Amino acid sequence: METLIIKGNIISAAEFGELEITENGYLIAENGKIKGIYQELPREYEESKVEDYGDALVMQSFADMHLHAPQYPMLGMGMDMPLLEWLNTYTFPTEACFKDQDFARRAYHRLARELAAKGTTRVCMFSSIHREATLILMEELENAGITGYVGKVNMDRNGGVNYQETTEESISETVKWLERCNFEHIKPMITPRFTPSCSNELMQELGRIAKEKNLPIQSHLSENTGELDMVKKLHPDCAQYWETYQKYGLWNDRTLMAHCVWSDDRERKAIKDAGVWAVHCAASNENLVSGYAPVRVMVNEGVNVVLGSDIAGGDHLSMFKNITAAIRASKARRILDDWKTEFLSVEEAFYLGTSAAAPFFGEKPGFAPGNALHALVLEDFSLPSVRPLSVRERFGRAIYRREHGGIRAVYSEGKKIFSK
Ligand code: GUN
Ligand code: FE
Repeated sequence: METLIIKGNIISAAEFGELEITENGYLIAENGKIKGIYQELPREYEESKVEDYGDALVMQSFADMHLHAPQYPMLGMGMDMPLLEWLNTYTFPTEACFKDQDFARRAYHRLARELAAKGTTRVCMFSSIHREATLILMEELENAGITGYVGKVNMDRNGGVNYQETTEESISETVKWLERCNFEHIKPMITPRFTPSCSNELMQELGRIAKEKNLPIQSHLSENTGELDMVKKLHPDCAQYWETYQKYGLWNDRTLMAHCVWSDDRERKAIKDAGVWAVHCAASNENLVSGYAPVRVMVNEGVNVVLGSDIAGGDHLSMFKNITAAIRASKARRILDDWKTEFLSVEEAFYLGTSAAAPFFGEKPGFAPGNALHALVLEDFSLPSVRPLSVRERFGRAIYRREHGGIRAVYSEGKKIFSK
């Protein structure tokens, strides 16, 4: 039995908007799974080694439920166009470079280490159309201790000259890729880029493969108005965008749909009824001038809402920054809605960036017993304050503001994957 005992101020989001705080407590895991949180060290562990972080904050690490690995080299660039132009001008040419496996290895090695250092231990990630680079990405994530899902992107139309597959290639490469996905912590996910990138035949086949192999699915939905117009032209038979996925068996309770900025009442009901997951990507929605998603309305309506950095539409890998972006977006939405919708509190947005994704990975919210241990340790000792702060106040400040190098350690599946 491998026992891990972490001592510090233990903070978790067991419920939406509710923090559970145990000051100077013990978080105990056995064989990578959480046993419990204790105020006093139980007798049976008296002889065990304790990783004592003193007065530091020990909180859940993050789940980034939507990001594009091959856009990592363009992070922070090309923020001057709306979605469809941005894809054609910057994004597809950048992703096309991942045909080069040495380049892919270098970029993905760095990406995986940066994710770990920033406290993201679970991902649902888009790769490029390339089979080999996708396997390299999965291997690099696995080696860095990151867990979750990766998808080889499928696109057989509207990709331009150097970045498109034939329908047959897209299907056969996906099948060959799936045969080689033998990683312990990184699993495959079916990934039609979005309706404008995939012919009906390809969508049909991807729906069939997902069903046959019991695989989760990820794509984009209702991000931008230009995209909505394009989908309407491509699918005159569908009243709404979501129906283009539903029609081909790509719409179920293991489907992640990024954005949902322009999803109206009817589309949101379809999302909720199917148990589809809406991935809110607030920073990206601002950068690409897509709009402000009705994030708080979706939460109130009972939609499964999780967060994504959506790099490189999003400009930050750090989920701390994407959580605050989600809070700000919910406030902008409130202004646009004549102050009729609520905004997200820090505790609520932290829940969306951590616990909300737990059921997607078959787990419970918070540091629930039985969950795999995913945690980070944060120091904030050098930040000034005019009076002693409570742990709750320190948590709220830490979400917005961290001292340089404040993350001391990150644990994924019970293993320390980063420390300084
Ligand atoms: N829709 C289709 N592809 C993409 C992408 O790479 N980024 C974003 N933000 N939206 C997309
Ligand atoms: Fe995206």
